[in-house]
Amino acid sequence: ETLYQLIDHLEANQTLSTSEFVRLLSAFKDKDLQNYLFEKSRSVRHRYYGNDVYIRGLIEFTNYCKNDCYYCGIRKSNPNISRYRLSKEEILSCCASGYELGFRTFVLQGGEDGYYTDGRMVDIVSSIKSQYPDCAITLSIGEREKESYQRFFDAGAERYLLRHETYNREHYRFLHPQQLSARHRQQCLFDLKNIGYQVGTGFMVGSPGQTFEYLAEDLQFLKELNPQMVGIGPFIPHHDTQFRDEPAGSLELTLFLLGIIRLMLPKVLLPATTALGTISPLGRERGIQAGANVVMPNLSPVGVRKDYSLYDNKICTGDEAAECRMCMQRRMESIGYQVKVSRGDSLNLEQTN
Ligand code: 5AD
Ligand code: FES
Repeated sequence: ETLYQLIDHLEANQTLSTSEFVRLLSAFKDKDLQNYLFEKSRSVRHRYYGNDVYIRGLIEFTNYCKNDCYYCGIRKSNPNISRYRLSKEEILSCCASGYELGFRTFVLQGGEDGYYTDGRMVDIVSSIKSQYPDCAITLSIGEREKESYQRFFDAGAERYLLRHETYNREHYRFLHPQQLSARHRQQCLFDLKNIGYQVGTGFMVGSPGQTFEYLAEDLQFLKELNPQMVGIGPFIPHHDTQFRDEPAGSLELTLFLLGIIRLMLPKVLLPATTALGTISPLGRERGIQAGANVVMPNLSPVGVRKDYSLYDNKICTGDEAAECRMCMQRRMESIGYQVKVSRGDSLNLEQTN
């Protein structure tokens, strides 16, 4: 089979074997192959989502974290960032400005911060829900007990983002300290799905030690989990981590993976991430053109943005929510797409696990 036939096969069957994925990924630098893939992934995206781009308002509400992931700038052993937490009132005021700007999904993201007990999270979620009943609330606060996930769900959180980071156990070990395991993280994802959340997972592209084999396993895992959303972005080194001298992940490989994921999971919500916009000025636009259909502008107060530094040179850290919103609208219109004011639920709602 030629590489082009592999892409045809992927489009027809929404899957490939692990070794076929490796073959395809190994050829990601081939421009003709990229164009062949992106024509298909774009057309699948247009079939289900037209020219619409969904927006999510990201609220980075705490940069305290009890974990020490080797790649992440807010890891607990980094003494060089100033730590902050947003109060419920501050979070609600981010939602208020976001609502005015047309956001109907709020993503509450933070480090794994014990200050936000189940009770505090339930209070925050139910307050947002009662003030903005027409909005969806997405949580992205890491690994918790299934009972906690259930409480947040009952309080009104319908979606949860938890990247699996890497499927391979040895590679997971290489990126994280001993206490964390790939198995537990994957278990959390199945728990979330079983509770009834719309689940987002994903991984970094080009993280230290990553191989095409590992990426092929990541793709197989996506197929198995069948999430509603998949967030991928390039690894970008942070100067206060042990991976400071590692190269960033590649724009081309990230785009290639977006195209593959669109063919594998035709209806999935696929963001063009901030990290993609950080490694290349038109990264997010190119992500949309490769099959992505979501962007997540920042609603966090400008005063704390630079402190949510997962990686170096993150974009938008000086821009007010309104500026990011308008900037995003211009960017999407410049490539013939249209930002949509709606909750933007996934069309992929069958629960298979
Ligand atoms: N580069 C790119 N992405 C990162 N993340 C954390 N650190 C980095 C980094 N250095 C990603 C992880 C996490 C998400 C919130 O941000 O995949 O799940
Ligand atoms: Fe934030 Fe452009 S999206 S400044």
